[in-house]
Amino acid sequence: MNKQENTVKDPGELVDMFSRTISYLRLSLTDRCNLRCVYCMPEDGEHKLHLLQYEDLLSFEELLRIVKLAVKMGMNKLRLTGGEPLVRRGVMDFIGSLADIDGLDEIRVTTNGVLLHEKAAGLYDAGIRKLNISLDTMKAERFRHITGSDMFEQVWQGIETAASLGFDVKLNVVAMQGVNDDEFVDFARLAGEKPYQVRFIEFMPVGNHSTWNRASYISSSDLKKQIGKFGKLEQFPGCRMDGPARVYTITAENGLKGKIGFISPISHHFCDTCNRLRLTSAGRLRACLLHDREADLKTLLRSGATDDEIRCLIKQTILDKPKGHTLAEDRLNCSGQMSRIGG
Ligand code: 5AD
Ligand code: SF4
Repeated sequence: MNKQENTVKDPGELVDMFSRTISYLRLSLTDRCNLRCVYCMPEDGEHKLHLLQYEDLLSFEELLRIVKLAVKMGMNKLRLTGGEPLVRRGVMDFIGSLADIDGLDEIRVTTNGVLLHEKAAGLYDAGIRKLNISLDTMKAERFRHITGSDMFEQVWQGIETAASLGFDVKLNVVAMQGVNDDEFVDFARLAGEKPYQVRFIEFMPVGNHSTWNRASYISSSDLKKQIGKFGKLEQFPGCRMDGPARVYTITAENGLKGKIGFISPISHHFCDTCNRLRLTSAGRLRACLLHDREADLKTLLRSGATDDEIRCLIKQTILDKPKGHTLAEDRLNCSGQMSRIGG
């Protein structure tokens, strides 16, 4: 990716009402997924999943136009999410085109890992170096229970393939009491044995379909206590916060060392340093994962909008970005579908 200075940039445009510079765009490329995780889009929830039709998604051309404009405005980091971004047909060529955009310093991908065994090399060739891979269990049977699919081995292979190619791999583990709590220590050990940063994410009550309940939530501080029994946790020097994660090194009694991140949207939200803007797979700009307010960029785009009009909407969405969320353990103010918004 080209790090050249882009002369049209005016980073002032990206500053919101709370002095946060919004430099990080997250694109949900599709609401579809080849898994059905219990916390995201469980198969047999009471509510039927409403998936978007192909024409409801922004085309790759439309997406490229928006990303180019956002980069001209000063955004320099992009994450591709979903649903599962790698299931969208044509995604690899799209990533290749993104990689050619001047001023876009980094593209990261969040994936469930199912297709990594076949796509990791192509991603690496396109210049992607950082992957966040969801993995909530290392037990095949439990994987089936959590994701509704038998693909544990394939995902594991995908993770290993990615690491062997040289990707910086972060494993996203949603911490769920009564579901995977007996594996927290195993994940801490994994962080010592493999070059993966294991990131525990507090289970959020997001979306209409989530199986969240109070008893399944565990806070990062309780989690740290459990992991502390396995090894000593120390804040990672010089890198206390890695995005929303608080990063620690763990040193086990046998000397194994690893990196562990804690993402605590509920107990310690990171709203005051949030630099994100989301574009949902339905083509709507969303300034906060946990607030339902969205701006309909797709309709604007398809009405023949000029670049300036699009830029204006991006700017307005940034100005409307809420100060923070009030999502305390049992209070919900987000009802959107996680797979549409992008996790
Ligand atoms: N709570 C916490 N994390 C979630 N994710 C998806 N749904 C939830 C939820 N309800 C995270 C998963 C996945 C990423 C896309 O979003 O870790 O890796
Ligand atoms: Fe798919 Fe990710 Fe949602 Fe799981 S969390 S169903 S892998 S989009």
